[in-house]
Amino acid sequence: MKVAILPGITEIARVAADRIQSVCASTSYPVLGLATGSSPLPLYDELIARHRAGALSLANARSFNLDEYVGLPADHPERYITFIRQHLTDQVDIPDDQVQGPDGLASDLDAAANAYDAAIEQAGGIDLQILGIGADGHIGFNEPGGSLASRTHVGFLTERTRSDNARFFNGDIEAVPTRCITQGLGTIMEARSLVLIATGASKAAAVHQMVEVGVSALWPASIMQFHNDALVLVDEDAASELVLADYYRELWAREPATD
Ligand code: GLP
Repeated sequence: MKVAILPGITEIARVAADRIQSVCASTSYPVLGLATGSSPLPLYDELIARHRAGALSLANARSFNLDEYVGLPADHPERYITFIRQHLTDQVDIPDDQVQGPDGLASDLDAAANAYDAAIEQAGGIDLQILGIGADGHIGFNEPGGSLASRTHVGFLTERTRSDNARFFNGDIEAVPTRCITQGLGTIMEARSLVLIATGASKAAAVHQMVEVGVSALWPASIMQFHNDALVLVDEDAASELVLADYYRELWAREPATD
């Protein structure tokens, strides 16, 4: 895993956007995995700005969201498919029928989960997966204690995640769904490259566990230690518990252009 400790979210967004831009430049039909949450928003703003400046086209891209709440009505503003349209895909040139997310309203959720993995495979697999991380170490909605090899599946949100996400539901934890449908850790690990964004002190413990401690179901993001092209972009606060911070800084300063 490579770790870049950067001065702030603007720099993080630039580095992540460079990664996406290089995938789009080197692949005729790029397949992007997209995350929701607040962490990737500056990245999406940067992609929109590059698109408006004529520097980036996503017309041939396909995108697959990481996850979705189960049961939120089709017109609910916090559905993740709505979020990604609003914050990115409706503002660039990717056709809407090339934008997908797990179907949290399917009558048969297990079948929808299987169909989602099949759709990713049919698209040729994900070239680059953007990730955020929960304070409990989840990626997508893969909460602690789950299988490290899971495929897209229906899961249950922890109290901690529901309380963290209540801010998007007027602070009302009861309004946050209890179930989700998420790409599994096995699905995420099949992406050809991973770029994870974490900012703020509330993520510091999870970042340390993910990068430097044992691979464990207790900190699901730690599975990324087994990926051979995973880049972790953090600000100083999220990096504050990293034991090898100075070493990561040294490495990143040496060859940032190759990352
Ligand atoms: C949610 C999402 C995750 C996201 C996490 C962190 O639970 N399912 O994909 O990474 O929140 O969100 P934030 O970036 O807002 O801290």
